[in-house]
Amino acid sequence: MSAEIDLSCFPIHRRHNSPDPGKTYVWALMDYLLRDRAGSVGIDAACDFFKSFKYFRTERYVGVDCNKETLIRGMGMFPQGEALLSRLENLELTENSADVILSTHTLQYFAPEQIVDICAMFTRAVKSDGLLLVHVPNNECVPGLQQLFDKAFHMVQRLHVGHLLSRIFVKLFCKIGVFGNTPLYNSRPIYFLSRIVARTERRSSLKSSLGRQSRILFVCMDKKEKKSDRELILPDKDQSTGIHVFNSDLLENRS
Ligand SMILES: C[S@@+](CC[C@H](N)C(=O)[O-])C[C@H]1O[C@@H](n2cnc3c(N)ncnc32)[C@H](O)[C@@H]1O
Repeated sequence: MSAEIDLSCFPIHRRHNSPDPGKTYVWALMDYLLRDRAGSVGIDAACDFFKSFKYFRTERYVGVDCNKETLIRGMGMFPQGEALLSRLENLELTENSADVILSTHTLQYFAPEQIVDICAMFTRAVKSDGLLLVHVPNNECVPGLQQLFDKAFHMVQRLHVGHLLSRIFVKLFCKIGVFGNTPLYNSRPIYFLSRIVARTERRSSLKSSLGRQSRILFVCMDKKEKKSDRELILPDKDQSTGIHVFNSDLLENRS
């Protein structure tokens, strides 16, 4: 594992505003890593309502999700973005077509072997000089992912997110926490405290000896096998919604 980027001291601003310090930390890190990643195509895998749109600097933003309603909401908020309706486990993106692929706060819903398969698809789809950032649960999927990424990339950074203090903070102040139904939730003092705890995450994330953290963030760059870039081919759009559709059953049914 190499550490070519200094991740010990990037800024954590007010705009990274979540009452969950782990999320605050991940958003700040994304913002930092994506800030000068121009390129043509950015993929936000399981994007919800284009939640991370503001962090992308790529010419195109393609949000993938299995929920049609959230994609429609995302397109309403950010009409420049493109939406792709698909389950991640079924998706096959064009090889070497994306400058940035990121997936945050989602892969914990999948079985470990599915996570490895999905990340293998991301690995094929990212360009040789692209950036892949995936946020996964700290479970049996991690050794398989480490092997996959070490084989494919020169630079693989493994960060540990969600330490004990952070988890206690979530249990107390997040929506479903002890004080979740009070005016404290989503209030400025809680965001402020969350940013302070997120700063401790920034430090501890680099220490694998504190391996008890609940999530892992893999940051991967510089593919070993250099192949020519290809254009991202998206499936046809659904005429009534303007969404590119990979899994057409999702047009009718909620996942
Ligand atoms: C907790 S949200 C995360 C949103 C965003 N990535 C973030 O960091 O806040 C999880 C998203 O994953 C989507 N999702 C869940 N299972 C999925 C699947 N199998 N394929 C694609 N998207 C899925 C949900 O619709 C939801 O929008």
